[in-house]
Amino acid sequence: MRTQVIEHPLVAHKLTLLRDSRTPSPVFRQLVDELVTLLAYEATHDVRTETVEITTPVAKATGTKLTEPRPIVVPILRAGLGMLEGMSKLLPSAEIGFLGMKRDETTFEAVTYANRLPEDLSGRQCYVLDPMLATGHTLIASIEYLLERGARDVTCVCILAAPEGLENIHKAVGDRAEVTIVVAAVDDHLNENGYIVPGLGDAGDRLYGVVD
Ligand code: URA
Repeated sequence: MRTQVIEHPLVAHKLTLLRDSRTPSPVFRQLVDELVTLLAYEATHDVRTETVEITTPVAKATGTKLTEPRPIVVPILRAGLGMLEGMSKLLPSAEIGFLGMKRDETTFEAVTYANRLPEDLSGRQCYVLDPMLATGHTLIASIEYLLERGARDVTCVCILAAPEGLENIHKAVGDRAEVTIVVAAVDDHLNENGYIVPGLGDAGDRLYGVVD
């Protein structure tokens, strides 16, 4: 497993605004969108391409285009949905799958309530969107669904990660697949409620408001 922390002044600036508890939901959503586009640019560095011959209005030229099979983007509902637009801007031709997961607030284990993924993901590059890599349980469960369907190349795009979660994913995935975590920052630790510290709070609530 590889962790790539994106160090860029625009990423740091937008992340600071996201962390600020005074940032209201509409601004938070807009910032997530912008930040994810920056992360997506780095996350897609190894997206598969092929060489094509084209003709410009002036001359023949050799170019590059995304190759088949199309990549698949999988936002983890609910909070990952807030990242979809930012990712789709850079990968508009990607297929989109959905995983609905929430964490059991007592055990912090992931509970799946929706699963819309293609049956066969062999040879597909998968991009999983989940803003907060806290314990890693949700991402581990998501990666398992993708591996069960044959995927071997998984990139998770996150806004923040906790060291504990990164370690858990590393242990769970081992060398079964190429897994990359692209993240704006790795924070200090998880608190006793499973929140990332200093973090930004509950990403779903900050995007969409509190739902009981
Ligand atoms: N999920 C969140 O939304 N925030 C955290 O800090 C941890 C998990």
